[in-house]
Amino acid sequence: MEVARHRTAMTRSDLSRPISTALVDGLLDPAQSIFDYGCGRGDDVRSLRDLGYAADGWDPNHNPEVTRTPAEVVNLGYVVNVIEHPTERADTLRSAWKLARRLLIVSARLTWEARDLIGVPHADGMITRAGTFQRFYDQNELAIWIEDTIGVRPLAAAPGIFYVFRDPVDAQQFLATRVYTYRPRVHVDPHQTYEAHRELLAPLFAFVTEHARPPRPGELGDSTEDTVRQVFGSLSRGHRLIRQVTDDAHWDRVSVQRRAELLIYVALSRFGGRPRLGELPTPLARDIRALFGTYRKACTQADRLLLACGDPAIVLVTARSSKIGKQTPSALYVHRSALAELPPVLQVYEGCARALAGTVVQANMIKLSVAQPQVSYLSYPSFDHDAHPTLDTAITVNLRRLTVEHRGYGRSANPPLLHRKEEFLGLDHPRRALYERLTRAEQRAGLYRAPERIGTLVGWLTTLEESGYEVRGHRLQRMAGSL
Ligand SMILES: C[S@@+](CC[C@H](N)C(=O)[O-])C[C@H]1O[C@@H](n2cnc3c(N)ncnc32)[C@H](O)[C@@H]1O
Repeated sequence: MEVARHRTAMTRSDLSRPISTALVDGLLDPAQSIFDYGCGRGDDVRSLRDLGYAADGWDPNHNPEVTRTPAEVVNLGYVVNVIEHPTERADTLRSAWKLARRLLIVSARLTWEARDLIGVPHADGMITRAGTFQRFYDQNELAIWIEDTIGVRPLAAAPGIFYVFRDPVDAQQFLATRVYTYRPRVHVDPHQTYEAHRELLAPLFAFVTEHARPPRPGELGDSTEDTVRQVFGSLSRGHRLIRQVTDDAHWDRVSVQRRAELLIYVALSRFGGRPRLGELPTPLARDIRALFGTYRKACTQADRLLLACGDPAIVLVTARSSKIGKQTPSALYVHRSALAELPPVLQVYEGCARALAGTVVQANMIKLSVAQPQVSYLSYPSFDHDAHPTLDTAITVNLRRLTVEHRGYGRSANPPLLHRKEEFLGLDHPRRALYERLTRAEQRAGLYRAPERIGTLVGWLTTLEESGYEVRGHRLQRMAGSL
């Protein structure tokens, strides 16, 4: 059977998902080269060049004359799934990995994308109606195949997209940045000297807030450190002034938060094989020593946390006592912006799902099941502006079966919909009060009397209409003409 590989390359007007994911993850540096291996019609290369990146690409069908050269970042975007011979597929991955000095991005289409596709089975995939070959993968299957082929464990960036880092320190840096962070608001007492130098002290303030420890020489950058020294005599004196104008209790809370973040990171770092201390980025290693004394102590505590999140009884009790999120009989639902405020056990639970699936960029609601080891990433595109947003997609990660599944509601005439949006948010979220007011009004109007009816769009709209109400923005009002 003739396979039309060249026909797999589509014309792109936007960056491809793997490239935009890497961009959002801060992994593309304009000073570093990018090579697009199997670049198709070269749209990613062109867009990257327009954005100021040194990008080039090769494709055996569309751009064969370019020499394949090593680069800091190599992208192998949706190439492996169009190759029908498993040996050539593996050779292609190995060749791309050989060229990657710092990072290889590998992407392939996932099984759920094949649902509506009509084709004929061929080798380990299928021939589509366009005459192209497609091998669809399960998320975990793709990860295992990459590791077996090149001998390095990839990190899930997103469903269908993996990163393979050359240097373990870069891999750890990436993992550490994935832990959600939260810092309480700080009150600064009026103080003349502080006010006069507020801007100069801002980087020092930000560092202490992020790391929960003062910086070591060199960590703030030479020019900032020199100026702080000129004005205050030393970095420590600058730091002392910051402490003088703020409350000790604030910094205690910052330490508690940073300790939790580090534990969550160390717990989740187990998945790639626990890194040695020397494989940690220096600032991170310093944070761990400052807050735990030794890396070993942090590892012991982190392992306890990991063990706890695998215990259904602990997950249930922790979820039930969470101050954040909406409780239902089978799950705890949290808005993405509030994840960092969840108890550490639940953050590790969610982190285990993310280690498998990567980041689901469009998801703004996370459902932590307490009935089975399962986390769902739900996307409500209109959450911010719609008082009762409807569900568009759900990506469900099952931690026992190690599966990642997709379900779309976009075409449903009666999708699930949300009420009481404030319950999903963090305690000091600026829109809590607005959402609470609407909930109170809807309650007073008797609109929640039949909960089983209002959970989906049609039931909710009918309830509103029958009661003579409408929702405008985040306000409930009587419909024109109703009593
Ligand atoms: C689905 S397209 C993806 C193109 C591009 N990376 C993108 O994301 O738009 C697959 C591409 O893989 C190329 N290809 C096929 N066999 C290849 C191989 N052995 N090595 C590199 N590229 C190959 C095809 O020519 C085609 O352009």
